[in-house]
Amino acid sequence: QPVRLGDYRPPDWLVDTVHLDVRLHPTAARIVARLALRPNPEGREGSPIVLDGDELNLKSVTLDGAPLAGSAYVATSTGLTLLAPPQRALTLEIETVVDPSANTRLMGLYRSSGTYCTQCEAEGFRRITYFPDRPDVLAVYTTRIEAERDEAPVLLGNGNPVEAGAVEDTSRHYAVWHDPWPKPSYLFALVGGKLDRITEDFVTATGKTVELGIYVEPGKTARAGYAMDALKRAMRWDEEAFGCEYDLDVFNIVAVADFNMGAMENKGLNIFNDKYVLASPETATDADYANIEAIIAHEYFHNWTGNRITCRDWFQLCLKEGLTVFRDQEFSSDQRSRPVKRIADVRLLKGHQFPEDSGPLAHPVRPSSYREINNFYTATVYEKGAEVVRMLKTVLGDEGFRAGMDLYLDRHDGDAATVEDFLACFADANGIDLTQFALWYAQSGTPRLAVSGHWDEAARSYRLDVAQTLPPTPGQSEKLPMVIPLAIGLVGPDGRDLPLALDDGSNAERGVLLVTKPRQSFVFRDVPHRPVPSLNRGFSAPVKLSSDLSTADLLFLARHDSDPFNRFDATQTLALSHLLEATSAVRAGGEQPAPDALVEALAATLGDTSLDPAFVAQALSIPSEADVAREIGEDVDPDAIHAARTRLRHAVGEALAPALEAVYARHAPTGNYSPDAASAGRRALRNTCLDLLAAGGTAKGIARAQAHFGAADNMTDRFFALAVLAHAAPDAREDALAAFHRQFRADPLVVDKWLALQAQIAEPQTLERVRDLTGHADFDWSNPNRVRALIGTFAGLNPTQFHRADGAGHDLVAGAVMDIDGRNPQLAARLLAAFKSWRSLEPVRRASAEAALRRVAGKPSLSPDVTDIVSRSLD
Ligand code: ARG
Ligand code: ZN
Repeated sequence: QPVRLGDYRPPDWLVDTVHLDVRLHPTAARIVARLALRPNPEGREGSPIVLDGDELNLKSVTLDGAPLAGSAYVATSTGLTLLAPPQRALTLEIETVVDPSANTRLMGLYRSSGTYCTQCEAEGFRRITYFPDRPDVLAVYTTRIEAERDEAPVLLGNGNPVEAGAVEDTSRHYAVWHDPWPKPSYLFALVGGKLDRITEDFVTATGKTVELGIYVEPGKTARAGYAMDALKRAMRWDEEAFGCEYDLDVFNIVAVADFNMGAMENKGLNIFNDKYVLASPETATDADYANIEAIIAHEYFHNWTGNRITCRDWFQLCLKEGLTVFRDQEFSSDQRSRPVKRIADVRLLKGHQFPEDSGPLAHPVRPSSYREINNFYTATVYEKGAEVVRMLKTVLGDEGFRAGMDLYLDRHDGDAATVEDFLACFADANGIDLTQFALWYAQSGTPRLAVSGHWDEAARSYRLDVAQTLPPTPGQSEKLPMVIPLAIGLVGPDGRDLPLALDDGSNAERGVLLVTKPRQSFVFRDVPHRPVPSLNRGFSAPVKLSSDLSTADLLFLARHDSDPFNRFDATQTLALSHLLEATSAVRAGGEQPAPDALVEALAATLGDTSLDPAFVAQALSIPSEADVAREIGEDVDPDAIHAARTRLRHAVGEALAPALEAVYARHAPTGNYSPDAASAGRRALRNTCLDLLAAGGTAKGIARAQAHFGAADNMTDRFFALAVLAHAAPDAREDALAAFHRQFRADPLVVDKWLALQAQIAEPQTLERVRDLTGHADFDWSNPNRVRALIGTFAGLNPTQFHRADGAGHDLVAGAVMDIDGRNPQLAARLLAAFKSWRSLEPVRRASAEAALRRVAGKPSLSPDVTDIVSRSLD
């Protein structure tokens, strides 16, 4: 009984206001909810009132103050139905009791290190009280929270604080919060606990002062400063880039240690996984700082794209997530280096979304049916969803895009909207038809684009022939052609772009060709020399592109392309095509030397001092084993890939040693650690050099890594050196790991790094190591961060060991999934999704993966979450 997009019907009853009275208690929190309901004029007449519930203990219900007769309603643990309510505005008062300490699913009201907190998206509010728990029911909430003052001196809710005080003659106190903005139940939140706070004022564009607060575990305020700084920059940026101003008197963020996801955009009260708030130079890496900046911004940006304009139903999830990811990507691009950010985002897309799109879990950016919505918080909805918004901008241009956004923010403020509503704003603002473009939301799978170029010397013209295909995906055997905005350049022999004049007299506007048909040709005139085409610049469309570019062409682009992304990509393409050949060679018992062109391209990049160090670091990194596996696509042997890649890294490290040493030396740290992008870029380049120099396992390389480890004054350098030692120096590894653990064992977020690193070591003993670590005093099955660091990393970033030929890696992960499922189904389902590419494995490993999945499927009393993933995986 999946939920289907086509079955949408408006709610029969609306809720205008919600008054919640929450009395916090470790095992018996009492919630009195007073709901002002009225029949929806757009609903079905004479309908019962159907409220959702989940594991609730109902104490009482009254209608307009009078107790309800037992025959007037049906209450179960999953719902409360008033069978024949009067068809007029009425007030329901419902009292429920829940046990926050027993709530191990981390949905609804739960405790994290003693702090009371909530997570309601997608369907967690129904675990607090009975309610029409769907995003198109918008109400104004007032929340009174009461608790023991000792246990929870801090009481936070959505909106603005109204009132607070002692509950007379008791040890309890209370706070009342009022949120004037109508919102769906998934944006409800409350927090109660012993927390420390940092606070700052922000003055909005129109001069209103907002009090910002970040709440963290006692003693950790020093680590919240960067998040606060990022928040203020995000608030300013949203005013400037999108005209979005904040709309309450206060904005609070709370960091908790137990959280299923990254963070949550509850109105005026964002709740975060502490991993995305807490940072200090000693404990956080540059990547952590960048993530904090991005996620703080992401959740803040939801205030408009998500909260002021929310989703009609959960099929529209990308309406808020894809758009908000796009917005946070743009923010980070403006704060840091745009090309480097683009490279990182595309890596994430190819690394997570492409495999999803080509495996059994493939689904459209807007799915058309689901069994468990929590399983659709995916790379496709988030990252591909952001790419679709980016393409819209590429198609419309900056101004056309902004006009569409302005119209959307204006027209749909206060609405629960749809993808159609969103697209209509861009179509209306620009006077264009987006019907075909909308297929990006409906068709799953990654389009393939084959491009070939033909220079006609006599006619001085150049023709690009483009063919698009979209492979079948689960539930979609036939596909229609997509609109593919293909940004290109024709690079002349001097390295400069030629003007793009199409022979029909038009210009390829902003260098973008619109591919809309299965096959299309574009002819450019006035092309005096054979150009090298630079295709899909900036990764303008999320497609798999193949072209007839030669090795020499790629080498040329790697040195001269004015588009930094394609400059990066040319080197990656050279490396990938070598790795494909080398992997085949390994499987055939042979060896394939590293190609000169690749070494030359890498040397040229390394030697070009005009380039941004952060960019050079990216361009120097050899494609990952997962990149190679994805490119191979079928009959994958992870061991062969690992061997080929290890050899290549060794060869590159050897061939470029003098240059790598020089660059390493030139980027030695100067002054104190600062997390800014330029400093981070220097560290990234230096560390990349360190890594390549040690990749051969030479004594000199290892000694350098040990010195680097010992001398590091920040977590970025220390952890990078530790990683180099862990992977390249089995003899030095254990001492370094032990020293690191001794130093940081009191810090769970750093322990996660230590766990994750060990889970990634590509050798057979890792399985035993991971098993042992699950019994380590610092491991905790009930904390999602610990589980993801150890088991999630093993499954996601250690292909040779997860996919061991003897099946022991698959067993380990499947076993963990089954253990976790009873306690936290969302976490279990996420871990299980690591099997998403199992069909592309060679037969032996594929059989073992299938057997592991079948074992999971056969376990009695699986959660709906895991049942959904396992059945789609096996379908
Ligand atoms: N809306 C949150 C975020 O992006 C994610 C929350 C998802 N939670 C969940 N239980 N599915 O930005
Ligand atoms: Zn989001």
